[in-house]
Amino acid sequence: MPFRTIIEPFKIHSVQTVEFPSAERRRDAMVDAGYNVFGLHSEDVIIDLLTDSGTGAMSTQQWAGMMLGDESYAGSTSFRRFEEAVNDITGFSEVIPTHQGRAAERILFQVLVSEGDVVPNNTHFDTTRANVEFQGAEARDLVRAEGTDPEVVLPFKGDMDIDALRATIDEVGVDRVPLVMMTVTNNSGGGQPVSMANLRAVRAVCDEHGLPFYLDAARFAENAWFVKIREDGYADKTPKEIAQEMFAIVDGCTMSAKKDGLANIGGFLGLNDPEVARDCRNILILTEGFPTYGGLAGYDLEAIAVGLHEVLQEEYLRYRIRSTEYLAEKVMSAGVPIVRPAGGHAVYIDARAMLPHIPPHEYPAQALAIELYLDGGVRGVEIGTVMFGRARPNESDEPAAMDLVRLAVPRRTYTQSHIDYVGEVVVDVAERAEHLRGYRITEQAPWLRHFTARFEPL
Ligand code: F0G
Repeated sequence: MPFRTIIEPFKIHSVQTVEFPSAERRRDAMVDAGYNVFGLHSEDVIIDLLTDSGTGAMSTQQWAGMMLGDESYAGSTSFRRFEEAVNDITGFSEVIPTHQGRAAERILFQVLVSEGDVVPNNTHFDTTRANVEFQGAEARDLVRAEGTDPEVVLPFKGDMDIDALRATIDEVGVDRVPLVMMTVTNNSGGGQPVSMANLRAVRAVCDEHGLPFYLDAARFAENAWFVKIREDGYADKTPKEIAQEMFAIVDGCTMSAKKDGLANIGGFLGLNDPEVARDCRNILILTEGFPTYGGLAGYDLEAIAVGLHEVLQEEYLRYRIRSTEYLAEKVMSAGVPIVRPAGGHAVYIDARAMLPHIPPHEYPAQALAIELYLDGGVRGVEIGTVMFGRARPNESDEPAAMDLVRLAVPRRTYTQSHIDYVGEVVVDVAERAEHLRGYRITEQAPWLRHFTARFEPL
């Protein structure tokens, strides 16, 4: 076959206007936002790579499915279609809808996790960490050592360090480990995938100690694609077969359907243990809603049911992973340091390497995220010391493992020329990196401070 460009596997059916705020307008907007990209209004953003969560475009099939939404409070047919779709892919007998991923996390941890417990994960996502900590427990990240080294190129940098998992269980005692989690793909660790071999190895350790094993499955389909193209023995399996195999290894999952559910809102908890499921449903009713809608409209359940099917299509996944890799190649060829290899849903710029003159406690990745916006209206997000560093009284913050700017690519939303533009902005900013300055926090919340903190330039 001659070389052919991997094209977007869709035609555009309805469009949204991109706004072009002037440089002056962007400067004012950033000052008003307290130098926090979460404070920007979307009409002041040209290309929005803040997140791939709930920002994707739905298909005509999904919109058509929404018209079938059954809004019955109890026992809606939409719930049954949703349950069937989740069951088909995950095999879990208990399917509990939630309004998004963090609601599934909160409910599961409220049931399983107690004060003083330790929850191992490859790398907790920020809401997952916060929900573990909210129960008075410790969220411990045990990703393999190479997983926090941006430069090492390996196929499965999201894998867990199995020795570290054993050591943690020995150290804290099995009674204080309520469950083991794995995030696929490992969002906070650069969107890196987890191998089936590693999932099996974690399973074996869990079995030795009788521990439940759950996936944070937000990007399960992207992980399945990486397994297909990178792990021995999977090239001939379909993404769906791989996903089914992945879920068969674990006891349950939390899921944000805003990512690989291809929906704008939604999530679920899937599991096999009927007693844990009963306790979860009881809490669900308290804050989310009746177990056949869980805080979602019937039409949301329909959109997710269709999305879970579409996300596993090979043409889609080939394009999806390629479009992220394409952006990575563009910025790397200009010498911009990034987490390698490219993640599934995002490119992570290594701001600590790019801005060595800004120490972690002056937030180099925050400085870079601000500059990308000021320069080209591109909104990314800091994943570094603002998000994960610890504030220490009378001392500068304890640095996070890495200081990254994540450029997350919404699903089926931007075309190749949008991505080319983003690459150009990144390269322009990198060329004058030595002129960027650090920031200081002027206001912060006790947890998840990155959403609302305000900054000022140093
Ligand atoms: N787990 C992972 C791995 C995630 O990336 C997210 C959300 C969640 C759980 C929580 O799901 O948002 O539906 O409550 N990640 C988004 C992001 C917000 O930008 O990466 P949610």
